[in-house]
Amino acid sequence: MSLKGKNILSTEQFNKDSLLSFFEECHKMEQVIESGGNELLKGKVMATLFFEPSTRTRFSFEVAMQRLGGKVVSNPDMMKNSSVTKYETLIDTGKVVSQMVDVVVMRHPDPHSVSELAKGSDVPVINAGDGPHQHPTQGLLDLYTIWKEKRDFEGLTIGMIGDLKNSRVQHSQCELLKHFGVNFLFVAPGELRMPREIKDELVAAGRRVDIFEEIEDCIDEMDVISVSRVQKERFDSEEEYEKYRGVYVLDKKMMNKAKEDAIVIHPLPRVDELPVEVDSDKRAKYWEQVGNGVAVRAALLKEVLGF
Ligand code: NCD
Repeated sequence: MSLKGKNILSTEQFNKDSLLSFFEECHKMEQVIESGGNELLKGKVMATLFFEPSTRTRFSFEVAMQRLGGKVVSNPDMMKNSSVTKYETLIDTGKVVSQMVDVVVMRHPDPHSVSELAKGSDVPVINAGDGPHQHPTQGLLDLYTIWKEKRDFEGLTIGMIGDLKNSRVQHSQCELLKHFGVNFLFVAPGELRMPREIKDELVAAGRRVDIFEEIEDCIDEMDVISVSRVQKERFDSEEEYEKYRGVYVLDKKMMNKAKEDAIVIHPLPRVDELPVEVDSDKRAKYWEQVGNGVAVRAALLKEVLGF
């Protein structure tokens, strides 16, 4: 499956075979980057349009482009500093920016906003997170992290803990993991459960999904422990958010109940759910995950730009 010239708006265009071959590419890309990068994308320019805050995602796209010899134009605060403030539509912004660059990376607080901009764009657009909907490249790097640690997805039990209603990262993880023979254990408060459509899709794909409200009821079964923060910016009020803040904490004591060969992934940033004391646990893979993000995004840019 070629991604040349394609938008990456969701996780839809991936299947089991394309994911496995993509991870091989990411692995090669990691070696390219470790040995100093190359000039493959020399002459190409990427625009990063961020309408929502970001540290890792924007930097890792930009570093990936630069490691392959490409150039970057970046607006990290589109809500304040772009023609959107003059009521330019997303479609027009897409049309305009695409006259000047070869690929666009965008993040926005509204679901489907990236697809809207892509309607106007004459170059590929990559979704770097559209509200609570999807974050496909984070999902890809999370699976790549699992693949590197476990090599085979078949038979794994994937635990997802946190704000499963609003975590676009865990939504994208589900959409990608459904292609493999894995089981899911979802741990969330009743009000923050995984959206029904996603759960139904997993079940329709033949996956087993079990739902819990307490981590200790199922942590001993998890091969992968995927944690997310409660997504403060998606709540109607601070008061509502405070009800859930700190509801789950994966601390050392809890990790004592987990499998010896389990891995912990987290897209970061973390708040209370993942104390610093877990960082020294050999099962904590979230710092490696950040580094994997550069290789995964470099491999994706290479594919989308047709190299
Ligand atoms: C995530 C995001 O923006 O959705 N962060 C990231 O991209 N690394 C997770 C989050 O903000 O909780």
